[in-house]
Amino acid sequence: MLVPAAIQPARPLPQHDESSYRSFLALKRNPLSWLMSLSMRYPIVEVRLGRRRLVVVHQPEHVQHILIKNARNYTKQTRGYQMIRKVLGNGLVTSEGDFWMRQRRIAQPAFHRKRLAMLGEGMVKATQEMGEGWGEAVARREVVEVNEAMMGLTLRIVGEALLGVDVTGASSQVGDAVEEVLEFVAVQTRSLPLTDALPTPSKMRFRRSKAVLDQVVQGIIDERRADDRDRGDLLSMFMAVQDEETGERMTDGQLHDEVMTMFLAGHETTAMTLTWTLMLLSQHPAERRRVVAELAEVLEGRAPTIDDLGQLPFLERVIKESMRLYPPVPMVARTVVDEDEIDGWRLNKDHYVVINTWATHRSPEYWDNPEGFDPDRFLPERFDAVPKLAYSPFSAGQRKCIGDNFAMMEARLVLATLLQQVELDLAVGQTIVPEAHVTLRPATGLKMRLGPAPRFGR
Ligand code: HEM
Repeated sequence: MLVPAAIQPARPLPQHDESSYRSFLALKRNPLSWLMSLSMRYPIVEVRLGRRRLVVVHQPEHVQHILIKNARNYTKQTRGYQMIRKVLGNGLVTSEGDFWMRQRRIAQPAFHRKRLAMLGEGMVKATQEMGEGWGEAVARREVVEVNEAMMGLTLRIVGEALLGVDVTGASSQVGDAVEEVLEFVAVQTRSLPLTDALPTPSKMRFRRSKAVLDQVVQGIIDERRADDRDRGDLLSMFMAVQDEETGERMTDGQLHDEVMTMFLAGHETTAMTLTWTLMLLSQHPAERRRVVAELAEVLEGRAPTIDDLGQLPFLERVIKESMRLYPPVPMVARTVVDEDEIDGWRLNKDHYVVINTWATHRSPEYWDNPEGFDPDRFLPERFDAVPKLAYSPFSAGQRKCIGDNFAMMEARLVLATLLQQVELDLAVGQTIVPEAHVTLRPATGLKMRLGPAPRFGR
């Protein structure tokens, strides 16, 4: 007798045919290429990693199921998030349930378009000052570490825009500390839990750096407590909110976690978007000329404002294409709460799911010439043909990035300012390898040679 498709029992997942040990080594050595090879071979796959079972998904409908349709069944109780919690505590990125929902509701107005419009000037000013700071180095065509420069710039922007603090003075100290804690998180995420209890040197460095960050964050909170006028920024919003029933305000501990979260979630991701975009523009001179010509035509040499952004559509497409090829968050992890079924495949409780955004964004199933740099694929008439969620650099559903508009505005304003100030060419003699750190980074940094910006597009 034929059983209707709808009530056929779920199938067991396709199994990856490698030993747990080999899979573990491949994951540790090069997670990006290993996950890519899995997604090229299987529509969805289960991999054994010691006692854990990892499920790797990349198809847009599967991603939609996990992030939107049945999102409540997928939590952030993963090893990666367990490590991130050691740094961020229980802030917007890491919290869950009612507490997360309350915090998200409080934070949302700080990211409203009208509010963001007030932040544009600060973003442009910070970029101008960075460019001016290069001064003579431009004439001498010196080489700069672009990834570091972008990290410093976005750290300053997020600090000023959301928290009303100027971290430029402490920027290198904070930058180094951030670097150290993220390094620790990345390495630990890919290690076996066996080493967790050992007092390793990297753990000692982590504790020291975390203490530096804690101190900076506490300083910010103390300063605001001493003068708690409403400045209309995110920190003021968090400080003003009162529990409807008890009237309680957020404690220093809760504020600390949210401030730390904004610093970390809000700067490295955008810094990497800028870094990869500058690399791609140097590798694709025709597209770079087109961006520069667009800027020249619209701005005629003046600084951009947010009102100009609508007239810079090619710049926007360039950034989107950069985030397709180099998604700053190349994979998103979740843990399955209860047994579930995706597209007829059975997922078990406690399965660990990896949404392989890196593979979705480069899959020939959804993109023509997927490895090619083609900003015009984001023209509406072409992009409309791409399946929903084949492109999701900011994730989707209720846990979608709260800073997506902030980041897109920042990336456009920074590039519109910078590309009118300087021209950045890749320095020769470097091999650029993307590495899935906490975000997607060039493994050994990105060196670029400074030069004066071309006048009115060449
Ligand atoms: C190009 C830049 C950015 C990218 C690609 C990006 C990407 C993402 C992604 C993929 C997530 C979801 C992670 C998950 O669910 O596991 C996320 C969450 C988040 N992002 Fe971003 N992000 C960017 C910039 C920003 C900025 C500028 C801010 C703040 C100013 C920010 C704050 C957050 C927060 C608070 C969350 C957690 C939201 C929640 O769960 O309610 N991000 N981001």
